[in-house]
Amino acid sequence: MTTVINGAILSKEIRANLHEEVLECTNKYGRAPHLVVILVGENPASISYVTGKEKACREVGFQSTIIRLKENITEDELLKQIDELNNDDLVDGILVQLPLPRHIDEKKVIEAISVSKDVDGFHPINVAKLHLGEKCLLPCTPKGIMTMLKSINVDLQGKNCCVIGRSNIVGKPIASLLVSSNATVTICHSKTVDLKNVTNKADILIVAIGKPKMITKDFVKPGAIVIDVGVNRVDGHLCGDVDYDDCFDVCSAITPVPKGVGPMTITSLM
Ligand code: GUN
Repeated sequence: MTTVINGAILSKEIRANLHEEVLECTNKYGRAPHLVVILVGENPASISYVTGKEKACREVGFQSTIIRLKENITEDELLKQIDELNNDDLVDGILVQLPLPRHIDEKKVIEAISVSKDVDGFHPINVAKLHLGEKCLLPCTPKGIMTMLKSINVDLQGKNCCVIGRSNIVGKPIASLLVSSNATVTICHSKTVDLKNVTNKADILIVAIGKPKMITKDFVKPGAIVIDVGVNRVDGHLCGDVDYDDCFDVCSAITPVPKGVGPMTITSLM
């Protein structure tokens, strides 16, 4: 029987536990943890993500502030805003929603955020620490995926893992976390030759390619665990990078879209 790893249910449990922790933290330090999210411009997807983060903060009892900046804000003004937040002792986490308008250098902005307040885990020092296997702020989607794998008690040691997608936000960091858990990891991407030959050997297949329903059952080793990071809108409906219905009977566990990795990403941010 196939296990559905439901990120919405898992998120609810984690957020309830977090709420308790936040209450303890608030009693101890006299205030709730405070997340500041900077939203530049009016990208509809970014607005929707930021709204989700604000809702999650409310659920767990964090203080949250959304700083909405105009699309035409200069890079210097944005960097100045980040500097103020870095130096504000009443701010614990800073997140600049990406993508930024083209006239702003994202790399410069990410590097301006204090390493200890970089809740996205995008700062080069946090990235380096992750690859060194040191304690650090982790990027949220890979952290969420690891939590989902833990929820079904997978022993990762010696498992063949295939990650499709080599992004800095998902593919590379999840590969690193899996290696740190003693898995054997192959990262595939658009230039990989004979993708199926690799995916068919994977005990755990993680798909983050942004191509709706690309992964069908012929890519999946029988009994594999399939984690679908994709969020695509097709004909008004959300679907993943994995053809869920086609793959369902072949795998031992699978994440749905929606209610899969998505909610776990925001929960991991909390
Ligand atoms: N835009 C899409 N995903 C993310 C994310 O995880 N963090 C930030 N800061 N921006 C995003």
